[in-house]
Amino acid sequence: MKIGTPNEIFAGEDRVAMTPASAKDLQKLGYSCLIEAGAGLSAGFTDAAYEEAGVEVVPSAADVWKTADVVAKVRPPEESEIKQMREGQTLISFFYPAQNKELMEAANSQGSTVIAMDMVPRISRAQKMDALSSMANIAGYRAVIEAGNNFGRFFTGQVTAAGKVPPAKVLVVGAGVAGLAAIGTATSLGAITYAFDVRPEVAEQVESMGAEFVFLDFEEEQQDGSATGGYAAVSSPEFAAAQLAKFREIAPDIDIVITTALIPGRDAPELWTKDMVESMKPGSVIVDLAAERGGNCKLTVKDEKIVTDNGVTIIGYTDFPSRMAQQSSTLYATNIRHMMTDLTPEKDGTPVHNMEDDVIRGATATHKGEITFPPPPPKVAAIAAAPKKEPIKELTAEEKRAQEVAAFKQQTRNQVTLLTIGGALLLLVGLVAPASFMQHFIVFVLAVFVGFQVIWGVAHSLHTPLMAVTNAISSIIILGALTQIGSGSFLVIILAAMAVFMTGINIFGGFLVTRRMLAMFQKS
Ligand code: NAI
Repeated sequence: MKIGTPNEIFAGEDRVAMTPASAKDLQKLGYSCLIEAGAGLSAGFTDAAYEEAGVEVVPSAADVWKTADVVAKVRPPEESEIKQMREGQTLISFFYPAQNKELMEAANSQGSTVIAMDMVPRISRAQKMDALSSMANIAGYRAVIEAGNNFGRFFTGQVTAAGKVPPAKVLVVGAGVAGLAAIGTATSLGAITYAFDVRPEVAEQVESMGAEFVFLDFEEEQQDGSATGGYAAVSSPEFAAAQLAKFREIAPDIDIVITTALIPGRDAPELWTKDMVESMKPGSVIVDLAAERGGNCKLTVKDEKIVTDNGVTIIGYTDFPSRMAQQSSTLYATNIRHMMTDLTPEKDGTPVHNMEDDVIRGATATHKGEITFPPPPPKVAAIAAAPKKEPIKELTAEEKRAQEVAAFKQQTRNQVTLLTIGGALLLLVGLVAPASFMQHFIVFVLAVFVGFQVIWGVAHSLHTPLMAVTNAISSIIILGALTQIGSGSFLVIILAAMAVFMTGINIFGGFLVTRRMLAMFQKS
């Protein structure tokens, strides 16, 4: 069967749903591929590159719609495209069935199957097809780049001969896929990054990326991400008020705000109000990723960049992925290729639409003349249910100090108990064992003690490389083997040679593994 991709006709859309690389993989699944001439140009893929990858380049979109059994697109089809669809044909694209009911009915009346890439459930198995996440990741990155482009200062703090430059302070609201990508980008550029999300379970992820989670002085039953498909649920009015109060408090100090807060199927919550914008410093920047759904910032204008009277730039672009068309096309085309892999279990170029499969069922909006949207909830929980934790609450300075003192006392108690037991054991051994044994034994006990103290002081993340290097160091026994290798006994020579060989592997292997592990910790 044939998979085809037409040029995107939505104004300003630069992405393409098939790349030369994805086409090669689709051919391995048994499909032949075709593409409209020039469809990949704005994403940096020439017709020649497609031809080289074995793709047939056809002159018009009509040729694609007429010949292809499966049409892969980025944007939802326009009316003119729907009219070209035919019975038995499958369309794979972003579709947003909840917002495009008429479009869905039109596609269904043409008798075609629609697979909406935006409906792929967020379950582990479907991550490779999760095009929304692929695009959100790019949007988060690009939002920070766009903010930097409009911000008149460095992100990182610097001490220069011409004076001290403070680091930029970035606040990311909503730590989902786009938010985490924005946090990663902002911290790697050297900004002091803060993040907030209504789901407290993301605090750990936020902190592991080098940002500080903004806690509210408010206790609310923790949201369980598994119940809502990995998305947030609506917060209570009291929680929302506490959130706004916190934002109002920090707004004058923040240089860049990136908002990504969204609950699927709802308008974007208004989280950055007019007075917060007014309290920000001139030159500050707000990038509102939720602009498409009304914006998280009150003053956002969709698809526009505005500058307020007090000099704050507010960016409401909704086409960030398209602004990085090559990268986003590559990821999107890979998502589609994975979807096709699941649809082609026999790798024989024939799609099998298995409606028992959670992912295929979830993404299917119309099939065999039936509207199948909305799908039933997936049988598999979207994400593993987080263990119930105590609500996270910011500790006061006194509470923190009390906790530290208690921990110190406990540690001291443990050490004293350990030393007492150790001393008693030593005394016991000393009474029964000969003096030469005691000498070795004391060295052994001291070595254990010193080793324990040294290892305890090493950061957890460095334990694995430390183990590897310890492996190499433990091969110090090679010295013993070397002194014995010249011995007169044949057996001893054999044993010593084997010991030299094995400890040699240990030494070189240990250092090699350590090197590789440490390289993982280095920023390239
Ligand atoms: P996501 O669902 O993974 O993340 C949204 C996050 O917002 C979740 O972590 C959720 O807990 C949080 N959230 C919800 N309500 C909140 C509230 N009241 N306060 C604080 N946090 C709240 O969504 P994803 O994929 O990261 O997308 C984020 C946004 O980016 C969406 O609005 C999406 O439409 C938009 N987007 C924009 C693009 C553009 O070019 N402008 C491109 C791609 C995505």
